[in-house]
Amino acid sequence: IKKLAVLTSGGDSPGMNAAIRSVVRTCAYHNIECLGVYRGYEGLIEGDFKPMDARSVKGIINKGGTILKSARSKEFRTVEGRQKAFKQVVDADIDGLVVVGGDGSFTGALIFNQEFDFPVMGIPGTIDNDIYGTSHTLGFDTALNTVVDAIDKIRDTASSHNRLFFVEVMGRDVGHIALNVGVAGGAEEILIPEEDLGLDRLVESLNRSRTSGKTSSIVIVAEGDKIGKNIFELKDYVDENMEGYDVRVSVLGHMQRGGAPSCFDRVLASRMGVKAVESLLDGETNYMVGLLDNKMELTPLDKAIKGKSKINLELLRVSDIMST
Ligand code: F6P
Repeated sequence: IKKLAVLTSGGDSPGMNAAIRSVVRTCAYHNIECLGVYRGYEGLIEGDFKPMDARSVKGIINKGGTILKSARSKEFRTVEGRQKAFKQVVDADIDGLVVVGGDGSFTGALIFNQEFDFPVMGIPGTIDNDIYGTSHTLGFDTALNTVVDAIDKIRDTASSHNRLFFVEVMGRDVGHIALNVGVAGGAEEILIPEEDLGLDRLVESLNRSRTSGKTSSIVIVAEGDKIGKNIFELKDYVDENMEGYDVRVSVLGHMQRGGAPSCFDRVLASRMGVKAVESLLDGETNYMVGLLDNKMELTPLDKAIKGKSKINLELLRVSDIMST
């Protein structure tokens, strides 16, 4: 292997820049060339590459987003798109590809490998933490801190006005963010996709908290929760069916994906970049690097894609006890 390329794909997450930096500098350390691919697989198809050396990634370890930009490429899902990408890769003499992204990005990498026998290595980058084979994805820790900070601020106004707040956090398919920030932010209830607590239980819990003397409450709602009502319908339900509540809704949205990566995410990204490049140099392919028991481990890409990232249900119980 003489030349590697790195791209970021799917939803951006804090720590992606730190991962790019690590990939580029590990290549420089091993005297290999490195190309940055712009806009994920879109750039791979178009040959939008830029040579990167150790100095070209200075000053980015502390930056959110991704300097290489990201995209969700429709064309790469087609055979024709992937053939174009392969031609670009061959023309540029690239010997292997590091893909920083989530399960959709890994699926693309795996198919690309299967079709053209091209070496690929994944680095899990998503705030959702929904990838099997790593306890933490890049950006998850930063997003938790960002969201807890927001909840603390919402609590100030909730308690000043004796209000009930429904706060929606990201997590299309999983409740990792909701569960953790719910416990850290002292939420009354946490609604997640994995466990439908049901409306009755929510009502009961809100009533219980009021009779126990609480004057304000926060309920954390994961984007993909299964209670059957969206967050505005939940507010309407409480307004119509429960006496004396002053309810507000706060949807945190994409602010959760931005900002400077935490120390944890910077260290994780640095470790993952080294492991990804050195694994490719060792002849490994079709793996994702992950953090397991505080060690860098490789998980086959197909497992990382299909495996379920399990939420920690103990946290739900802790939350229950804490909201007594
Ligand atoms: O990054 C993952 C995620 O935050 C999901 O939780 C969310 O549903 C999705 O991204 C929204 O992303 P976009 O606006 O880029 O489609």
